[in-house]
Amino acid sequence: MKKVILITGSSTGFGALMVRTFAKEGHMVIATMRNVKSKNAQFAEALGALPNTEVVDLDVTDDASVKNAVKAVYAKHGKIDVLINNAGIYGGGVLEGYTLPQIQKLFDVNVWGVLRVNNEVLPLMRAAKDGLIVTVSSQVGRISLPLQAAYNASKFALEGFIEGSHTELMGQGVESVLIEPGGFMTEIISKAHVNADRAGIHEEYGAKLAEIQQHMQEVFTKLFTEAAPDPQLIADAALRLVNTEKGKRPLRTPVDPSSKGIDVEYNNVTEEIRKRWISAYGLVKI
Ligand SMILES: NC(=O)c1ccc[n+]([C@@H]2O[C@H](COP(=O)([O-])OP(=O)(O)OC[C@H]3O[C@@H](n4cnc5c(N)ncnc54)[C@H](OP(=O)(O)O)[C@@H]3O)[C@@H](O)[C@H]2O)c1
Repeated sequence: MKKVILITGSSTGFGALMVRTFAKEGHMVIATMRNVKSKNAQFAEALGALPNTEVVDLDVTDDASVKNAVKAVYAKHGKIDVLINNAGIYGGGVLEGYTLPQIQKLFDVNVWGVLRVNNEVLPLMRAAKDGLIVTVSSQVGRISLPLQAAYNASKFALEGFIEGSHTELMGQGVESVLIEPGGFMTEIISKAHVNADRAGIHEEYGAKLAEIQQHMQEVFTKLFTEAAPDPQLIADAALRLVNTEKGKRPLRTPVDPSSKGIDVEYNNVTEEIRKRWISAYGLVKI
């Protein structure tokens, strides 16, 4: 059955690929992005020209923008079957080098942005007793690498929110699940990042941190230029989740080809332990 699918942050990267993938499948796609009439006008025009695709302005950091966008979609289509929380920004640098406002900026998009959109869409999905929410987290929402701890923490926060609410939503007819991409060469790499903003801290850490940074740069450059996993894998994973029978969707879908299967192994092992741990309390059956 064709669904109404709303995607946040669809100007570039995974979001744009998801729009194209769902449109090809004949779904009604609401490709949302900020700055539709200015910075992202060319992306809006390209996606808006696809069949059964509408571009809607939505900035996940702006309450009114989120409310207006969701209201307009419900007024026109009467429902949102699938919400994909994809919008996100990256940030790097030693944790101590961040001021709190800078970390708050990162969280405003990656974490509060997701909650803003969910809080508008969830009441309507619950009323319909139907809906799927897919949130794009990251492998660094499971393992925290150095020199990007603030970004990683924003994804860990998402993991905590969604894991808890996944169980809350049982019985509401709504499923909320996560996709966890590994490293993929998308536009996120070239965009302005919300980096550590306190001058001089990084240098104070000296040679050991410089060595870690140098090594990470080499590893990621190699990953993006040589292995270069295809970002379409993430759009395909989102499509698989949409096509999976309701009630059978896994809480987490790790997609990190560079990990050579360790991502899936980690998920399987932790999921098994999580279930045993929760049942040891006898609180809820999951
Ligand atoms: N690429 C990776 O290796 C990787 C790995 C794990 C997870 N992820 C996650 O995957 C998601 C998509 O990232 P990507 O790699 O496809 O990067 P991308 O090409 O930069 O896409 C990110 C999207 O988010 C949008 N966005 C940023 N701030 C926004 C805001 N305030 N309101 C609405 N949209 C906003 C961007 O729009 P603008 O163009 O207007 O900024 C862009 O459309 C993100 O959540 C990211 O954290 C990426």
